[in-house]
Parts: sequence; structure tokens; C-alpha cells
Amino acid sequence: MWAALGDARTVLNVGAGTGSYEPPDRDVTAVEPSALMRAQRSEDAAPSVAAVAESLPFEDQSFDAAMAFSTIHHWRDPIAGLREMRRVARRVVVFTHDSSDAAWRRRFWLTRDYLPEVADLVAGRPSISDQARTIRARVEPVLIPWDCVDGFFEAYWRRPEAYLDDRVRRGVSVWARVGSDAEQRAVRNLRDDLSSGRWVHRNRDLIALDAAELGLRLLVT
Ligand SMILES: C[S@@+](CC[C@H](N)C(=O)[O-])C[C@H]1O[C@@H](n2cnc3c(N)ncnc32)[C@H](O)[C@@H]1O
Repeated sequence: MWAALGDARTVLNVGAGTGSYEPPDRDVTAVEPSALMRAQRSEDAAPSVAAVAESLPFEDQSFDAAMAFSTIHHWRDPIAGLREMRRVARRVVVFTHDSSDAAWRRRFWLTRDYLPEVADLVAGRPSISDQARTIRARVEPVLIPWDCVDGFFEAYWRRPEAYLDDRVRRGVSVWARVGSDAEQRAVRNLRDDLSSGRWVHRNRDLIALDAAELGLRLLVT
């Protein structure tokens, strides 16, 4: 994402959260609607503005670039938010996932075998091609390394035991959104399959992979 920002000096980070992905060597302004998230930003983090992507309180073309990381699936209207990013910035870089093709649910064993409820969370979301078309972006696949240090939902695809850890799950909103019954059932079934060897049997092709294509995408204008 930082490479895709190119030579941008001024960067707007939309849906910035605590600022985990803000480039340290640029002049960053953060937009974050949640007071709880803003309160968790460190003292030396970029200044943050309380606003939503769908209505950015900035003049046209006032930033060299606008970035959004793992946030647009939370927006009430992702297309409106992307249009706003395009309006206020000369370049747009978005890290998101492609949940639109029919094979998506089968791509990741966690969703396929343990948590099919995830499909309901993405139903009705705009497709990746609609998102890309809105901002006239190219779409680049982002492979996930097996030892990914980020804790997003798919990050532990080759370390299934991690999903048994409550602290790992608490860092990902998906688990809260499917509800605790689905969460407990998924964890119980995964634990059983790990101890019986069923998980390894079903997923033996993953063990030799160093990186996986699980639908993560970068949109770059
Ligand atoms: C999964 S967090 C990602 C935070 C940060 N980008 C990161 O990767 O660390 C999603 C963020 O999107 C924010 N968000 C939710 N709705 C939003 C909206 N309509 N416009 C902008 N941000 C929004 C949430 O408050 C939350 O901080």
C-alpha cells in the first residue's frame, strides 16, 4: 500500500482506526468516525478528524492521495465513500477483499467448513469490479504470507490453532458480527478437527504453500 501511494506527500487515511497502516514518512490526516478508535490513537499519530467516508469534510483534490485499509466493508455506502475519496484526492489506494465471485466462500477453509455465516455478512455488498469502476482503479491481488504478522481474519490460514485463541478472535470484527453461537460452534468444530487430524487431511495442499490467494485486493488509481 505504501508503494502504491507513490510520491504522495499528503495522505488522507479514511477509516483510519488506531492508525496501524499510516506511513510514517508522509503528511497524514486521519478520518475516523469512532470516538473509541480515535481515543486509542497514540499521541504521535497523525491528527484525526471525526467524519465518515461518505461525506468527507475536505475540498476537492486537497490531498495527493487517499488510502483506506480494511474498512470499506464497514461503510454504510461503500460506493459513495469511494467517490468521496476520488473527489478529495488525486490518487486512491484501497485494501479490500473480493467477495463477489461465487467461489469466494469455498476459498478459505475457515469460512467454507466452520463459519459459513460470513457469507451473510457480505451479501449485497458492491462487487470488486463495481468498486474499481467507481474510482477507475486497477485491481491487484494481495497474497497472504503464511506467517503474516497482521491479525486480520484470513491472516492465520496456515496456523489454524490461532483461531482457537480468544485474543486472536477479539481482534477481528467478523467473530462479533456472526454472534457467539456461531463463534462457539466454529471453534468447537475446529478444535475437534485439529485433534482428530481431519483439518490436516482436508487442507493438506495448504501446508506446502508460502502464500495464499484468499481474495484480498488492492485497488489503485
Ligand atoms: C477494521 S477497522 C480498520 C482500521 C484501520 N484502517 C486499520 O486497518 O487498522 C475499520 C474502521 O472503519 C471505521 N468505519 C466504520 N464506518 C466508517 C465510515 N462510514 N467511514 C469511515 N470509517 C468507518 C471503523 O470505525 C473502524 O475504525
